[in-house]
Amino acid sequence: MEKKLWGGRFSEGTDQFVEEFTESVSFDKELALYDIKGSIAHARMLGKQGIIPQEDAEKIIKGLKEIEKEIKEGRFQWKKELEDVHMNIEKALIEKIGAVGGKLHTGRSRNDQVITAFRLYLKEETQNIINLLRELKKALLEKAEETVDIVMPAYTHLQRAQPIRMAHYFLAYLEVYNRDEERFRDCLKRIDQMPLGSGALAGVDFPIDRNQTAQELGFSQIMRNSLDATASRDVVIEFLSNCAVCMSNLSRQSEDLIIWNSTEFSFVELPDKLTTGSSIMPQKKNPDVLELIRGKTGRVYGGLVALLTVVKGLPMAYNRDLQEDKEPVFDAVRTVKGSIIGMTKIVQGLKPKKEIMESSAGGFALATDLANYLVQKGMPFREAHHVVGQIVAYLTQQDRQLESITLDELKRFSGLFDEDALKLLDPYYVADARKSFGGTAKERVLEQLKYWEEKLQ
Ligand code: ARG
Repeated sequence: MEKKLWGGRFSEGTDQFVEEFTESVSFDKELALYDIKGSIAHARMLGKQGIIPQEDAEKIIKGLKEIEKEIKEGRFQWKKELEDVHMNIEKALIEKIGAVGGKLHTGRSRNDQVITAFRLYLKEETQNIINLLRELKKALLEKAEETVDIVMPAYTHLQRAQPIRMAHYFLAYLEVYNRDEERFRDCLKRIDQMPLGSGALAGVDFPIDRNQTAQELGFSQIMRNSLDATASRDVVIEFLSNCAVCMSNLSRQSEDLIIWNSTEFSFVELPDKLTTGSSIMPQKKNPDVLELIRGKTGRVYGGLVALLTVVKGLPMAYNRDLQEDKEPVFDAVRTVKGSIIGMTKIVQGLKPKKEIMESSAGGFALATDLANYLVQKGMPFREAHHVVGQIVAYLTQQDRQLESITLDELKRFSGLFDEDALKLLDPYYVADARKSFGGTAKERVLEQLKYWEEKLQ
């Protein structure tokens, strides 16, 4: 049995159930390298301030670097009975360099130590997510450049609504993921604040220098209040909430692409290497990556709700409940990163089927435009809506598409129809009429492309 670092006041060993139930090293070892980074900065500061002798600080730093190497090489022995990543590393240090290793924890508590390591982790992973989102945005831009001259139906209520240029769709998601990136960037400002030096909750009674540790650790701000620094997890919640929003967007786009990839729609073809087969139905090519992005969204929402619930009843300041902040985050980080990579590959690899989309973009999808034509000629919109409704009913009864209508027939419904009304039966013409800022007209789509080409280069 390992002797506990906090074992002084205890007369019997810990119940084995309690050890198993309370340990966190099985998952928080993910923070090991950040914990060591924090400890090295702390030890250097203790030495510099004369709180411990310089040579002791050097021994501690050297020992921590050796442990770091062992961890990186997978040689480090993690022990559950030592509870968490912090105690495992501290105990190993003492075993390695002797009693002097016990000086590392001077002027520090696990309460400021753990959240320092966690914030270092969150900073790095936020940057990783931002980088991946940039790759996804670039893929969307490239696909938009490729699809300017493809017209497709856009849907409301999953009913054909109006024709758009396909690029307009990809540019829409570029905006969406750009906001996701902005949210992560904004949150980074609040993550980038150092709790170290707050002690257990009330601050530290040694002459520590928090500016020095903040500088070494690369934190741009120091947390002003020690209670807040050790007790609060709202920034972690904000990070998880950004992950959840990002997953909701990825999931929603997945749904579009799953529908488009169906035989019924056949708007796009997904590359073989990004799909999987069925073990029983030889004809199938399943969009599993997209389905799993959609499916894994649930666990990220779950993590957010879990942490919100963990903190809601906690008294000031640290409570052990806060150990539950880590697993949802580790899981969300893995899930979000994997999902962004998956979506990037899918966007890069998908092949639009131009003819099918074009033919679906015509027909009754153009009815609004016919109504607007009458409005331009002076008819009140409600009346125009009614007239075109009658045209739709008339053609439907005969099982005909809108394109088949003749000028003579149109004139029977309203004397306002003229030769130029027939142009409205071409989806490209109709899409390009939507020239309002933000609209789908080719000239507007090209403007959007130019904007993003400049932004993303
Ligand atoms: N493993 C703990 C956590 O993740 C570290 C802090 C423990 N602090 C304490 N006072 N027991 O929160």
